[in-house]
Amino acid sequence: MNTYLNYWEDYYKNHQDPGEESPFARFVVPFLNDSSSLYELGCGNGRDSIFFEKFGVNIVAFDQCKNEVAYLNEQYKTGSLSFEEADFTNIGERSLVDHVYSRFTLHSVNEEQEMRTLKWAHDTMNDNGLFFIEIRSIHDELFGQGSAVSENSFVTDHYRRFVNFETFVSRVESAGFKVIYKLQSKGLATYKTEDPMVIRLIAQK
Ligand SMILES: C[S@@+](CC[C@H](N)C(=O)[O-])C[C@H]1O[C@@H](n2cnc3c(N)ncnc32)[C@H](O)[C@@H]1O
Repeated sequence: MNTYLNYWEDYYKNHQDPGEESPFARFVVPFLNDSSSLYELGCGNGRDSIFFEKFGVNIVAFDQCKNEVAYLNEQYKTGSLSFEEADFTNIGERSLVDHVYSRFTLHSVNEEQEMRTLKWAHDTMNDNGLFFIEIRSIHDELFGQGSAVSENSFVTDHYRRFVNFETFVSRVESAGFKVIYKLQSKGLATYKTEDPMVIRLIAQK
């Protein structure tokens, strides 16, 4: 299932180039080793994968936006970085990697798709590999805006599903991971005038 594909295709038509990496990507860098491998789920305009590649990481970055993926491959593909059009909730069997990275993407899909993705990540990572996640919390000020789809999910111009910190941690653990870092806070993902309450998690296989 594609998730508000038209919204995201339109968005990236106007934000084609990567610009600056996210604060979460800067937080993650110290955990990445030179020559390690990483899959990014929902890379948007590729800003974080393009940043990680500078540290010697081998990356495949997935996104559902066909036009943006084609553009990123044209402009930014290298021997160690490529982009692929895919629904990250349904990627299927792949070579094992050391890391999986998801920033502001697991809240773009419903809980069933999230669980499937968590299990896929667990199956697709090497032992001790790290899964880096940043996701919107139910304490986000945007919670409740738009029309309700379920208790915690709403549609404005696109879909957002906000997660409860404790239950999200439990779902990650039930997919087989050990959560080695968790934080719910403001000040982590400020953008223009927005300062959402977000959850950061590092889960180890
Ligand atoms: C909020 S943006 C985040 C982009 C990027 N991670 C960043 O932080 O700049 C969400 C991205 O997830 C992608 N996405 C949402 N659902 C997806 C799915 N099921 N499969 C692949 N990509 C998806 C969207 O196309 C969009 O590029």
